[in-house]
Amino acid sequence: MQRVENEIARLINECDYEEVTQLFNKLSGGKRLRAKLILKIAAEHNDAPLLAAIVELIHAASLLHDDVIDEAMTRRGVESVNASEGSKVAVMLGDILYSKAFTELVAFDKDVAKTIAASVTELSKGEMMDVKMAESFNANEALYLDMLYLKTATLIEAAAKAAAILAGKDAEAYALYGRNLGLSFQIIDDILDITSTQEKLGKPAMNDYVEGKCTLPYIYLYEALDKDDKQRLTESHAKKISKEETAWIKEKMKEFNTIEKSFTLAQKLSKEAQNTMGEDPTLVLILDTMIQRSY
Ligand code: FPP
Ligand code: MG
Repeated sequence: MQRVENEIARLINECDYEEVTQLFNKLSGGKRLRAKLILKIAAEHNDAPLLAAIVELIHAASLLHDDVIDEAMTRRGVESVNASEGSKVAVMLGDILYSKAFTELVAFDKDVAKTIAASVTELSKGEMMDVKMAESFNANEALYLDMLYLKTATLIEAAAKAAAILAGKDAEAYALYGRNLGLSFQIIDDILDITSTQEKLGKPAMNDYVEGKCTLPYIYLYEALDKDDKQRLTESHAKKISKEETAWIKEKMKEFNTIEKSFTLAQKLSKEAQNTMGEDPTLVLILDTMIQRSY
């Protein structure tokens, strides 16, 4: 992973703007899931660290823009760039990271470059869908999963597929693995928003619903509630709610096992990913670590 960090630092330096270097160095790197995946799949390939760095820059750019869109004050436990420097700076820093990543990407094999580039269009469509869906309560599970796929799984899918192309491995099998890993990852993230603490999350807990995001545990809860309680739940949508109301939601989620139900789907997707990668134990390990972080 040190080689990926070196590549990232080199690309940032090449932007040749002190302000950018300083701002970038203040960001927390996160789990680097996408980079780890690329390194595991294309371990022997010389260009794997560069491809991993490119994907991490695209991911970082998307989060900078996402925090502006979500008006998020924190990211990974530190003040978001839009909070400390303002939205204009956050958008421009995102643009620089994103365009630098693409400048490097065009030197790759056409199929590798196209796989990553096309996923960013999907990612952006997913973000647009997410914002639109947050305007009113969404109880449609299939629609929610379509959005999750676009918003989170596409870049992970593309990272796995591009690394497989680079390494001369079965691109479609790795793409399927990446897709299921990505979906499972995001569902776990949605669960953690409810079950974890601000300290562990690096952002406020129970915040998805405040932002208008009806994640799976909320969709399953809505399905299970009677008419009056359905109304009570939807009345709390997309606003800051009282401690009592938060406690009521959590209590009802417990009563109807909606966290477990969401976790079961994440596990099923993770198993499907595992089945595709049966003979590659390191990739199975990535999945296990991810699933375990929810408990
Ligand atoms: C986080 O979702 C957001 C994403 C994973 C994707 C955001 C994508 C874009 C803004 C479009 C792409 C733009 C560029 C420049 C590449 P979340 O808000 O559910 O998660 P969070 O709790 O981590 O904020
Ligand atoms: Mg967000």
